[in-house]
Amino acid sequence: GKPVRVALLGCGTVGTEVVRLLTDQAGELAARAGAPIELAGIAVRRPDKHPELPQHLLTADAAALVESDVDVVVELIGGIEPVRSWLLTALRKGKSVVTANKALLAEYSAELSEAADSAGADLYYEAAVAGAIPLLRPIRESLAGDRITKVMGIVNGTTNFILSAMDSTGAGYAETLDEASRLGYAEADPTADVDGYDAASKAAILASLAFHSRVTASDVHREGISSVGASDIAAAKALGRTVKLLSICERVTADDGTESVSARVHPVMLPRSHPLAGVGGAFNAVFVEADAAGELMFYGQGAGGAPTASAVLGDLVAVARNLVAGGRGPRESAHAALPVRPMGHT
Ligand code: NDP
Ligand code: HSE
Repeated sequence: GKPVRVALLGCGTVGTEVVRLLTDQAGELAARAGAPIELAGIAVRRPDKHPELPQHLLTADAAALVESDVDVVVELIGGIEPVRSWLLTALRKGKSVVTANKALLAEYSAELSEAADSAGADLYYEAAVAGAIPLLRPIRESLAGDRITKVMGIVNGTTNFILSAMDSTGAGYAETLDEASRLGYAEADPTADVDGYDAASKAAILASLAFHSRVTASDVHREGISSVGASDIAAAKALGRTVKLLSICERVTADDGTESVSARVHPVMLPRSHPLAGVGGAFNAVFVEADAAGELMFYGQGAGGAPTASAVLGDLVAVARNLVAGGRGPRESAHAALPVRPMGHT
């Protein structure tokens, strides 16, 4: 079939792995998608710093690349502006978007999905929560016939890497954070990880999808790990426990029967026998509870270039298949339903 033309915005930790997979597996991906997936251009901030990339594809002008003759925009830059404007432009022109940008989605997913719906474009963002783990599409699609009551787990790899190292080797907080940055787990500004903003963005995305509501990052009660010291880890150990940063999203029923959504992020002392206590390194794990399904557990690599690129490529193949079939993927259900509990109530 006619090639699916892709604009890649950003080629750092994740983008580099996306280019590698697209190049190494071009034949297989074309067979799976039903058409070749062709890189039409790669926008980076400093093209001269990327001798490893095909030079004819590189540009510093992301806005022009978005406006060019492309079918799909894959955004791996991060942050709100100017990315939000570029993605809205793409969607309004009917170009589908794949993004890993949880910070953006946690604030603007309503605006972005409305733009996608009006133009008949796809908006996929599996990589935005829990790296390689297939989690958002199972919640949005596979569990669409069930009633989800709770989503709880470890969704930030950097803080889990730090807490695990402090627990197992007694390593220091600062040196372990440096290592997480070097390994490509941490955000460009790692305070987003250690102060819980990243986990709160992911909680907002999870709660919105699971409970068909509109939850933004500012609705999420947030406490990070910067106040967790070696003495806290030692105290937890003495009690047979370990400290984990959990994101907890729940459907809450008040005494009068009215329902609402609560979402929070904070460190928790877990008994060592708890399944989440054994999740080490930059791994993530999430429990989903639904009325008919009961309890489900999702586990895998939650951060890093290749694991995140796996989720991006999965979305890209899905979008390409939809384009080849002449349509688009499933819409998110109408978001009107549950009110969000004020921050701080748990
Ligand atoms: P990096 O910082 O490694 O890469 C960012 C890329 O964006 C760089 O190539 C940079 O260019 C480019 N860029 C920055 N500003 C501009 C601009 N104005 N115009 C064009 N290009 C620009 O980030 P990551 O790859 O780690 O993360 C990318 C996204 O994926 C973020 O939203 C992040 O939150 C998300 N994510 C990251 C994960 C991870 O484990 N790293 C996991 C899941 C999601 P240059 O190279 O020239 O500096
Ligand atoms: N900084 C994030 C983390 C990347 O550590 O989990 C994955 O979203």
